[in-house]
Amino acid sequence: MIPKDTIDDIFESARIEEVVGDFVSLKKRGVNLLGNCPFHDEKTPSFTVSPAKGIYKCFGCGEGGNSVNFIMAHEHYTYPEALRYLANKYGIEVEEEEVTPEMVKEQSEKESLYVVANYAEKHFVDNLLDSNEGKAIGLSYFKERGFSDETIGKFKLGYAIDSFEAFTSAATTNGYKQSFLVDSGLTKEKNGKQYDGYRGRVIFPIHNLSGRPIGFGGRTLRTDKKTPKYVNSPQNAIYDKSRVLYGLYTAKKSIIQNDNCFLVEGYTDVISMFQAGVQNVVSSSGTSLTVQQIALISRFTKNITILYDGDAAGIKASFRGIDLILEQGMNVKVVLFPDGEDPDSFAKNSVPGELEDFVKDKAKDFIVFKTDLLYAETEGDPIKKAKLIHDIVDSIALIPDDISRSVYIKECSRLLDIEESLLIIELNKVIRKKQYNSKKQGAVPQNQIPVVPFQQEKSIPKLTDTLDIQERNIIRLLLIYSDKTITFKVGEEDQNVAIVAFLVYKLQQDDIEMTNEWCRIIIQEYNQALEDETILSQQHFLNHHTPEVRALAIDLVTSKYELHDWKSKLIDVETEEHKLKRAVEGALHSYLEKRVRMMWHENQEKLKSVSSNSAAIIDLLKEQKRLTDLKKKLSASMGRIVVN
Ligand code: UTP
Ligand code: MN
Repeated sequence: MIPKDTIDDIFESARIEEVVGDFVSLKKRGVNLLGNCPFHDEKTPSFTVSPAKGIYKCFGCGEGGNSVNFIMAHEHYTYPEALRYLANKYGIEVEEEEVTPEMVKEQSEKESLYVVANYAEKHFVDNLLDSNEGKAIGLSYFKERGFSDETIGKFKLGYAIDSFEAFTSAATTNGYKQSFLVDSGLTKEKNGKQYDGYRGRVIFPIHNLSGRPIGFGGRTLRTDKKTPKYVNSPQNAIYDKSRVLYGLYTAKKSIIQNDNCFLVEGYTDVISMFQAGVQNVVSSSGTSLTVQQIALISRFTKNITILYDGDAAGIKASFRGIDLILEQGMNVKVVLFPDGEDPDSFAKNSVPGELEDFVKDKAKDFIVFKTDLLYAETEGDPIKKAKLIHDIVDSIALIPDDISRSVYIKECSRLLDIEESLLIIELNKVIRKKQYNSKKQGAVPQNQIPVVPFQQEKSIPKLTDTLDIQERNIIRLLLIYSDKTITFKVGEEDQNVAIVAFLVYKLQQDDIEMTNEWCRIIIQEYNQALEDETILSQQHFLNHHTPEVRALAIDLVTSKYELHDWKSKLIDVETEEHKLKRAVEGALHSYLEKRVRMMWHENQEKLKSVSSNSAAIIDLLKEQKRLTDLKKKLSASMGRIVVN
């Protein structure tokens, strides 16, 4: 258990823009910050962070909450895990119990794997820096490759002793369970016997976005062909190679700053480039990029630059993967390294700043690069050329943005020496085919040819719809103006009444219950607070323990509602601050009118369904009279209240 004081401390210290900013690139938009939502795929940002309110909210998918909720949702942490993460980030001490082997046993599989990976990382680092074998073999290997002490420390590079059980027995002695060691791939099992999976290799730990180790790449130092060059972590509860990018943790700040991400082949390329001063670099570790990896990058930037060192065949093989990136609406550039050089060797053989200049100078737009490369191969062969045109047009058709597409068509028409109109006809064919296919599969077509938008039928809001809006509006007024009062004339005197008290008592006085369950809870809590003579802050609801209440509150106080929905539907928001009293009275009155009418109808229905000699009929008739009177009273007072 984390003490309450510590939790309060964490909530107070955690600044939402900083917490979210570690994972999402945010841009200032008025008083708020805006970015691409990390919880769903989107091309235009609708993820809003409000530093003043301490909350985030996505208008695309509806996710919202405070700093702790964000970490829980984003990192898939439990509540205490999220609190510990934030405590760590803000240097708040949490009195934690010592992790004993017994506790490790009890922890969930995931947490156990994290703990094992953490232990292993430290074990391998210790080997590298403190053991004779590690220093003589591992460390000198890294030094020979030109890695500085600082770089070795930054990437937590390590060494696994060349023995069958050095790691496994150390881990077992420290209480780590056999099964987790095996699941993590650090220990292998054969014929009931265990042995170290990474023995005699230098270790490249792989970190997740929050910097925790989740897997390992181990490079052999042998040169014989029989030994696989790398041993990699198997898929398990914390390591999924299709969702991991090596170096992303160390690169993310620089990716945001440079609004670009370099993509290289291997671990050593990432490390060498980082050391040479290019820090916005990641690797998909020898496999072609997956959609999930692209999504990971697109949280930080829309620009990817791929660094190639291979031959033409290898490069062509990667084109399909690049199409995936285009489809995600990302801009792709490529840099081709000179023969026999890769980013690692280039970085090592260059003077400071040279690599940076090289990748800047040589970066070529992908479509142009692809066109150039393939065009050179057609050598005037018309069949090859026709195939090439299809190939290029297919790539262009993947780009979601109309304007970019037409720019590429122009450029390729020039490069391929072919009429622009011909390319457009080809492009439209591909797009139509794609639309047809996606319609068949019930998907939303991505690349629409601009058509005149059809007139959308205006739906007449149902009574219950508008009632719900009105209930939310009252709750919104409560949340936003909970510290404000309005003034009434009582005889000769002005009397100030808190808006909360006014609204809550009015509803209570006429015995009105809201239809929306979550609105009802909020009213009940305000009511209870009034009885207890305490004040509930907006924050209380923004951090509410019931997720639905919290989501509702966040929805209501975030700017989108203030600016759009309410304006058209109920009150003029711009004047709301000034004419608060009228707004509050107006909102309450029009809600009561509707709600009472609805209650009257409901009661009427009940009256129809009960037999005339039933005992309930008296109560129903009484209620009917009360509601009829209330209806009259409300319509009589209508003239007094002018709704803006
Ligand atoms: P490379 O063979 O280029 O390795 O493979 P490297 O990391 O650049 O190593 P050096 O510079 O030759 O020492 C590129 C990446 O492909 C993956 C690794 O992620 C590697 O970094 N790979 C390669 C494997 O996973 N297994 C292998 O057997 C080989
Ligand atoms: Mn390499």
